[in-house]
Amino acid sequence: MSIRRSFLIALLCFLENGLAALLTDHTRLTKKSYDFIVVGGGTAGSVLANRLTEQPEVNVLVVEAGRSNIDGPDLDDIQVPYFVADIPASFDWNYTTVPQRALQNRTLAYPRGHVLGGSSSTNFMFYTRGSSDEFDRLARISGDEGWSWKAMLPYILKSETLTPPADDHNTTGQVDPAVHGKTGPVLTSLPGNASVLDSRVLQTTSELSEFPFNLDMNSGNPLGVGWLQSTIGHGVRSSAATAFLAQETINRKNLDVLIGTRVTRLLQTERKDGKPVFLGVELAQCDSGTKVQIRAKKEVILSAGSIGTPHILMLSGIGGEKELTRLGITTVVDAPDVGKHMQDHPWVPLQWQVNTTNTLETINRNPDIFNAAMAVYNATKQGVISNNPGGNQIGWFRLPPNSSVLSEFGDTTAGPLSPHFELTFGNSFLSFTEPVPATGNFMSMCVALVAPTSRGSVQLATTSVFDAPLIDPAFMQTPSDLATLTEAVKAAHRFAAASAWKDFIVTPFVEAVNTTTDVDIHAYITNLVTTFRHPMGTARMSTSEFGSGVVNSNLLVNGASGLRIVDASIFPHIFGAHLQAPVYAIAERASDLIKKEHGVPLLS
Ligand SMILES: Cc1cc2nc3c(=O)[nH]c(=O)nc-3n(C[C@H](O)[C@H](O)[C@H](O)COP(=O)(O)OP(=O)(O)OC[C@H]3O[C@@H](n4cnc5c(N)ncnc54)[C@H](O)[C@@H]3O)c2cc1C
Ligand SMILES: *[C@@H]1O[C@H](CO)[C@@H](O)[C@H](O)[C@H]1NC(C)=O
Ligand SMILES: *[C@@H]1O[C@H](CO)[C@@H](O)[C@H](O)[C@H]1NC(C)=O
Ligand SMILES: *[C@@H]1O[C@H](CO)[C@@H](O)[C@H](O)[C@H]1NC(C)=O
Ligand SMILES: *[C@@H]1O[C@H](CO)[C@@H](O)[C@H](O)[C@H]1NC(C)=O
Ligand SMILES: *[C@@H]1O[C@H](CO)[C@@H](O)[C@H](O)[C@H]1NC(C)=O
Ligand SMILES: *[C@@H]1O[C@H](CO)[C@@H](O)[C@H](O)[C@H]1NC(C)=O
Ligand SMILES: *[C@@H]1O[C@H](CO)[C@@H](O)[C@H](O)[C@H]1NC(C)=O
Ligand SMILES: *[C@@H]1O[C@H](CO)[C@@H](O)[C@H](O)[C@H]1NC(C)=O
Repeated sequence: MSIRRSFLIALLCFLENGLAALLTDHTRLTKKSYDFIVVGGGTAGSVLANRLTEQPEVNVLVVEAGRSNIDGPDLDDIQVPYFVADIPASFDWNYTTVPQRALQNRTLAYPRGHVLGGSSSTNFMFYTRGSSDEFDRLARISGDEGWSWKAMLPYILKSETLTPPADDHNTTGQVDPAVHGKTGPVLTSLPGNASVLDSRVLQTTSELSEFPFNLDMNSGNPLGVGWLQSTIGHGVRSSAATAFLAQETINRKNLDVLIGTRVTRLLQTERKDGKPVFLGVELAQCDSGTKVQIRAKKEVILSAGSIGTPHILMLSGIGGEKELTRLGITTVVDAPDVGKHMQDHPWVPLQWQVNTTNTLETINRNPDIFNAAMAVYNATKQGVISNNPGGNQIGWFRLPPNSSVLSEFGDTTAGPLSPHFELTFGNSFLSFTEPVPATGNFMSMCVALVAPTSRGSVQLATTSVFDAPLIDPAFMQTPSDLATLTEAVKAAHRFAAASAWKDFIVTPFVEAVNTTTDVDIHAYITNLVTTFRHPMGTARMSTSEFGSGVVNSNLLVNGASGLRIVDASIFPHIFGAHLQAPVYAIAERASDLIKKEHGVPLLS
């Protein structure tokens, strides 16, 4: 017995030593300089870390503020798809917005992943690329054809592999495999556990012509209702960390990944051609802790996300002079767009009580049923626990062409293939703002505004990276946003009024009852709008539409040298999509841009 135990311990030690570990002590890095320093091991940062170190002669340091994605007693919470609705704070930045003026000054929880893989390790796993119009608009206004749908499609495919669903059902008629990747590290799949909603959602698409069926919403045309694709592979979450920073990548001798450490600011190392050069970063693990400076030979790449990136830029003297001066920070690069023009998707939930016990409430309220489902999952990685609890179908829609909202406010989307709003269909009570009722079975729709015009900001609260910045998504501040989301709520009611739902829907949930007149819907929106967790635009690209931004079309910071930004903050317009797929795509292209600029050969 004891011999076996010591053998096991020896084996464990052996395994531990055999694996290159993540670095946790910033004072003991083996090098004082690296070719590239990637700030943030999140969705975009993980892609860069992997792609840049494909060539052994290139060395890279990744600095990630959060924890490991493969260490700790609570890993099930970020790996098991069913647990996505309740990600613990230990994986999060715990941000809260400033009071939202148009929402009766409510403050909103504002989650961001604080873990390797960033928000892709904690997100709802929806895999949506957006329409070809989104990429084509970016190409048009940036003047760089490289951002067009046609040019980006190879990069979109490069990151993805479509895998069989957890229940291995025949997916013919539910997805178009021809538009999916076959060799990328991020695993995607269709729902792996059928729901009582499935047949009714599909029946509605044939009954009501305004909600047509779409075989594959990731083909470039997302409009209509289709089967949800999730970043789930073999019943487990597939994140940027599991995909791009798997053990064999961490093992690369030319890659160091440091966790639990923040970049406190960028260091100006010299001036070249009249521009400040930022080939250095300062690191610390807490406000008063030891500070360490590390140099980059080729570039520092900011991938700290839409909150972290503008935060670090401003703390480094790159931002609007007026605000920097207010906090006593010397302006090195006057870049007024830093932290400005932020966009996010606001949404409201709608719920209906339904005439079935076959919804997720039944599983969640009964420990025996839950444990039976967990046992199935533990043994096979199948069953309801392997499935995205967000729902099995979602849909993207435009306002009808004769809508008075369009004639009054114009079209706010990227083009005719881009949606104004999104509906998701889930077989449970979904809400981020209301408690789940103790009794009853429910279906829900998330009603989201996906081409909003309100723009908010990220501003400094203090001069320390260890204090949260002021986050203001400025939800629902334009009349067009309110009018469009109001139309979306009405569309959701039309969807639920199809005869497919007769005998199934019993009644709207208490608070959702009063959502028929415009006045009632406005009050409902004010009370319940919250974030879909899609901030972007806080370090936006220079474009013909908005003029000089923070980065040029190669994602290099204007007015500086040696510094690039690759994450969701660079988008000048929010995509009509959940953002992880667009972020993976830009990070894949950015990896090639960087390799080309520094003469690093591309893998064929
Ligand atoms: C709860 C939630 C649900 C979501 N649901 C979906 C969904 O279902 N589908 C979808 O497509 N998208 C979803 N999103 C959005 C999507 O995940 C993000 O848009 C995307 O992951 C952003 O990628 P990024 O690289 O810009 O930032 P992130 O992935 O957030 O990466 C930024 C990284 O930088 C690190 N960092 C920040 N500051 C510092 C610093 N000073 N020093 C060192 N490191 C730092 C962070 O810890 C983080 O790891 C969701 C997001 C959240 C938070
Ligand atoms: C958020 O809160 C949790 C729980 O208190 C904590 O473990 C985590 O470290 C916090 N995140 C940050 C970035 O401080
Ligand atoms: C919200 O706060 C602002 C500033 O404090 C105040 O002027 C406004 O009246 C408040 N609105 C509501 C609805 O309370
Ligand atoms: C899946 O279903 C389609 C159409 O119903 C059928 O043509 C195909 O052979 C099936 N595939 C498998 C592997 O059974
Ligand atoms: C399933 O596995 C987890 C550990 O991953 C364990 O905590 C849980 O008790 C198991 N549940 C069942 C029902 O086997
Ligand atoms: C969904 O998963 C559960 C186990 O978690 C299983 O009992 C049930 O049969 C599955 N539903 C379908 C339709 O396959
Ligand atoms: C728009 O057109 C549809 C059918 O084409 C019609 O049912 C609807 O009433 C019209 N709406 C408005 C606002 O004119
Ligand atoms: C619920 O469904 C049953 C049949 O399954 C039906 O008899 C009953 O009328 C339904 N109730 C409601 C409120 O629709
Ligand atoms: C709905 O509105 C009616 C009339 O304004 C009101 O009497 C009722 O209390 C409201 N119900 C809810 C649940 O808010």
